[in-house]
Amino acid sequence: MTLPELISACAAQLTSAGVSFGHGTTDAHDEAAWLTLWQLDLPLDSDPETLDRDLTHDEIQAVHALINQRITTRKPAAYLTQEAWLLGVPFYIDERSIVPRSFIAELLAEGSIDYWLGPHTQRVLDLCTGNGSLAVLAAMTYPDTTVVGADLSNDALAVARINVDRHGLASRISLVHSDGLQQVPGQFDLILCNPPYVCAASMAALPAEFQAEPELALAGGEDGMDFVRQLLAQAPEHMTSNAVLVLEIGHERAHFENAFPQLEVIWLETTAGEDQVLLVTSQALRQLHSLSL
Ligand SMILES: C[S@@+](CC[C@H](N)C(=O)[O-])C[C@H]1O[C@@H](n2cnc3c(N)ncnc32)[C@H](O)[C@@H]1O
Repeated sequence: MTLPELISACAAQLTSAGVSFGHGTTDAHDEAAWLTLWQLDLPLDSDPETLDRDLTHDEIQAVHALINQRITTRKPAAYLTQEAWLLGVPFYIDERSIVPRSFIAELLAEGSIDYWLGPHTQRVLDLCTGNGSLAVLAAMTYPDTTVVGADLSNDALAVARINVDRHGLASRISLVHSDGLQQVPGQFDLILCNPPYVCAASMAALPAEFQAEPELALAGGEDGMDFVRQLLAQAPEHMTSNAVLVLEIGHERAHFENAFPQLEVIWLETTAGEDQVLLVTSQALRQLHSLSL
């Protein structure tokens, strides 16, 4: 059996087992290719056609064992390999934090928020940093900034620590234990936040792969906006006058607009569409606060 044949067989097995995707891959073929290449210690950018040799019995057995583990445990592949990739950057991952996949990463890479940034952008906050992926990507994208990564979960912060150190960014990224913005020091020019935003109805219907992730990272209360309400109330005092907040809210746009009908926001386009990530300026937030006083 060759590598392409093994990947096809594994993809068929994943499909018939009905596993869910969304933690780095979106279909059975990509998931099978990822797990197969990882198990055989081959680079992820290997072209299967160029690896058209016969595999040994042991190699095939080892790959089948990993695919079976993926099916029986229903854990995201990244928890099995302890590695996830976001925009070509590798991150260590384990079950103490969710698997990196924020669409904010795309906006950083594509310069989509650069219009609102400038020489004044010195201090960046990655609130709800979890695995630390956005803090690391922000520090890489904006080399003149310092970054604070904050999270309520000490477990997640331990994973973030590994990633910050792995990328040699400890001198520019500090990690802080904080409930929302409460223990975060000072003001920021840019706040990135991929918070827990999944509403109660969606939480109840989550596939097993998502239930394997920490509930604290996902559950946002009845309408998904519990954390976001607290954040938008506290944010103005932590933002400089030209600051912006970039906030991911997944599929909860209707709930967001219902909760903040008077807030002026800019929806940012990602590969997930135009209503999963928004930008709000410090001025718009201050205006909202003056309206509600
Ligand atoms: C959706 S995950 C985002 C992780 C990471 N930023 C990413 O994009 O992969 C949300 C994170 O928010 C953290 N969190 C939940 N409630 C929090 C709170 N009240 N204050 C700070 N962090 C919180 C969770 O521990 C989790 O790491």
